[in-house]
Amino acid sequence: MNQLTKLLGGCFALYFGVFHTQAFSQPPIQPRPIPIPEYYLIDDYENDFVSLFNGLNLNGWEQKNGSASYQVVNSTITGTTAKGSPNSFLCTSKSYADFELRFEVKVDDALNSGVQIRSISRPGFKKGRVHGPQVEIESSPGESGFIYSEGTGKGWISPSHVAHQHFKNNSWNSYRVVADGRRIQTWINGKPIEDLFLGDADPASGFIALQVHGVGKKGPFQVQWRNIRIKELDGTESRTAFAAQGIPQIDGKIDPVWNRAPRFLTTREVKQHRTIQNKNEIATAEVRCLWDEEFLYCLAVITDPKVDTDAEQPYEQDSIEWFIDSGLDRKTTYDQNDAQYRTNADGQESFGSTGNVHQYESKVTQTDTGYIVECRFQIPGQLGQKIGFDVQINNNAGNRSRESTAKWNDWTNDAHTDPSKLGTLIFQK
Ligand code: BGC
Ligand code: CA
Repeated sequence: MNQLTKLLGGCFALYFGVFHTQAFSQPPIQPRPIPIPEYYLIDDYENDFVSLFNGLNLNGWEQKNGSASYQVVNSTITGTTAKGSPNSFLCTSKSYADFELRFEVKVDDALNSGVQIRSISRPGFKKGRVHGPQVEIESSPGESGFIYSEGTGKGWISPSHVAHQHFKNNSWNSYRVVADGRRIQTWINGKPIEDLFLGDADPASGFIALQVHGVGKKGPFQVQWRNIRIKELDGTESRTAFAAQGIPQIDGKIDPVWNRAPRFLTTREVKQHRTIQNKNEIATAEVRCLWDEEFLYCLAVITDPKVDTDAEQPYEQDSIEWFIDSGLDRKTTYDQNDAQYRTNADGQESFGSTGNVHQYESKVTQTDTGYIVECRFQIPGQLGQKIGFDVQINNNAGNRSRESTAKWNDWTNDAHTDPSKLGTLIFQK
């Protein structure tokens, strides 16, 4: 082959390669949008877990959808494929809403598997087809730990699901799944894999189920689970969030540096404050934090269907409140390192009774869907530092009063008098 033929051949191969990749294969590899901190694993509380599998029999479980076999072998649940069977599921009889699930799993290289969470089987939907979010299990390189919408035809829920090597082939792998409100997080062998928010339409509760995938005429293949245990979250656990290192400009606009920071939501409501009936009229926020040697920076993107500051008390106006205990000493009354800061949707600042402890600066931009608050506190940061932290969205829905209150950590109305109710913010890279 002369040089020219080789060159043309090369161009063709390159062209075809590109065309082929775009037309027929997985979407191109994208960087992960949210860095998930590994030291979330620090707060271990293994003692609070209950076993879903007693190691002896399948009491508490029922099989649906397919005819694979599930047997108890040496304290494992061993699933074996059956020729011609559709996907099979061994489902808990009980439903679970918010929980942390831990289990170990081992799977034959040729078999795809997964664990369903908040899943459902109803006669009215595809004749009882098991459906719902599935945490993927497959050998490496693979998409283990990402979330797939089983049985709904919607495909992957994980926006990006790039194959990785964190699943150890032919050995036991430990999974950790945290389902807390709309947020779902997964880890495999201690490595963070997924961190996403489900849509509002997704069921808030359902069974947990072990999948043995259909394999047509192939097989038999096996998948095994052991040490399946759960801790139900009742919405009162003290939460932990993470601030990333970076410096934004405080101008009420979302600088690209905010993409470094993990997001968290104000999913807890102060129940006695809710006087509006319509859930869609509640105001909520997606919050991110950054730090440097001088400041803590916070950004809140607030969804509020009707921005209104027409109420007498500042806390009854559409506004955000930040609660900070920079000493993290968890006292039950405010002292010199605790403070409450407030900015309303028009950019007006006010403070709790202890005053402006750390110098505070904030900027507001109103948007089509609510408003954005970007602010900074003069708190010198260090890698690994922990502070007490909470954020609250006061919502005036048009009746000149506060008609709903959404918070990140404290579900009571106590944070403004009792800083021990704050969650924990950890400064990471
Ligand atoms: C606010 C306080 C306010 C109190 C009145 C709280 O949610 O944080 O600033 O004084 O409500 O009930
Ligand atoms: Ca409002």
